[in-house]
Amino acid sequence: MEQYIMKGGNPLVGDVAIGGAKNAALGILAASLMTDEDVLIENLPDVNDINVMLEAIQAIGASVKRVDRHTVKINAEGISDVSIEDEYMRRIRASYYFIGALLGKYKSARVPLPGGCNIGSRPIDLHLKGFRALGAKVEIERGAVSAHAIDLVGSHIYLDKVSVGATINIMMAAALAEGQTIIENVAKEPHVVDVANFLNSMGASIRGAGTDVIRIRGVRRLHGTEYAVIPDQIEAGTFMCAAAVTRGDVTLRNVIPKHLESISAKLREIGCEVSEFDDAVRVVGRAHQTRTNVNTQVYPGFPTDLQPQITVTLALAEGTSIVTESIFENRFKYVDELSRMGGAVKVVEGNVAIVTGVEKLTGAQVSAPDLRAGAALVIAGLAAEGYTVVDDIEYIQRGYENFEKKLASLGAMIEKVDSEKAARKFQLKAG
Ligand code: EPZ
Repeated sequence: MEQYIMKGGNPLVGDVAIGGAKNAALGILAASLMTDEDVLIENLPDVNDINVMLEAIQAIGASVKRVDRHTVKINAEGISDVSIEDEYMRRIRASYYFIGALLGKYKSARVPLPGGCNIGSRPIDLHLKGFRALGAKVEIERGAVSAHAIDLVGSHIYLDKVSVGATINIMMAAALAEGQTIIENVAKEPHVVDVANFLNSMGASIRGAGTDVIRIRGVRRLHGTEYAVIPDQIEAGTFMCAAAVTRGDVTLRNVIPKHLESISAKLREIGCEVSEFDDAVRVVGRAHQTRTNVNTQVYPGFPTDLQPQITVTLALAEGTSIVTESIFENRFKYVDELSRMGGAVKVVEGNVAIVTGVEKLTGAQVSAPDLRAGAALVIAGLAAEGYTVVDDIEYIQRGYENFEKKLASLGAMIEKVDSEKAARKFQLKAG
């Protein structure tokens, strides 16, 4: 079983290149099935979630050609099946994007229901509400969603809750529906805008992505395109917190500073120096960083996907901070692991954490409970005294490409090991 082993104490210093946005790429890969012409997608992150999505696309008959590690050419003309195997849904939730894409193009789709996961129940009722509003007959049978329509007809849809997945999924189906669709109370995340821009590059007519209302004029067909995925704001935010918590000086390249405004503001509040350039951001940590409060919100608020990382940063800031998780009901599971390292974080009422800053964290053996919490425990280990081993790193590898290599290039003493022997070898080398 692979683990990350690290020896904390080195400030992270230097430049790091940020990859393509996983959560934009997942929607874009599904949307690429909505034409029979070639689609070339660049700046794809080489992470497990993306590679599983590509496997699922191949499994239903589309052709997938890896041009290079971050570029793929897809042609969906050969699709022979609109039913996704359960194996893929069990491995990545974003398989639910196949419903909107296949329903839009073939007026039929059968996709297993996604399970809950470690951060909450994660229903898809809003997705299904949107498909039904467009005229699809949607049934839940034998653990799968079956959606079929004679025709999809544009509709006025109000999302009871802001949902990234529902916004993207309904937008895809509506792109090939007849007439106009208006979707209100939509998610405004950069990755929603990126999927809308991708669909428009294929000939869709989508307006308003990034605002509260998206207006879609259905078209008869979509054509091929070439498209580059936007930079990953969550990978960027993770490295910004890593720079702050290790009191380092890191410049992140290939980012869109506007997408990072909420994390930049929080790091400035605790005393870091954050400078913004055209496609780069520089974070300089300070010895004395002080408390602040964080409340996760939909974009442009503070992203829930950076909540574990900022909490770890606040665990080593002076004073008491309050972190409120307003999006998911169970996203503090990592707090117990952090307490094994000396973190003083107390969760009250299930979605509020009281973070009492401590002088230092000490290395320990911890397990990653989910993708972002796993990344947060790694950056805690980089700031801790002594050795930390993080288990269950396959969660982290779902969303971070070469995570340990990028950190090591910034001066972190970290390696991926797959045996006791390799771990001992690392400790001998690290001293
Ligand atoms: C996307 O999940 C991301 N995943 C998540 O990132 C991210 O945390 C989340 O958006 C919020 O930003 C992908 O893009 C693949 P939601 P998604 O629908 O779309 C409730 C990561 O770390 N809800 O915006 O599933 C839901 O329970 C992952 O990369 C309904 O009630 O999130 C949650 O409380 C983790 N009914 C809230 O809305 C629905 O039909 C927001 O969920 C849909 C959602």
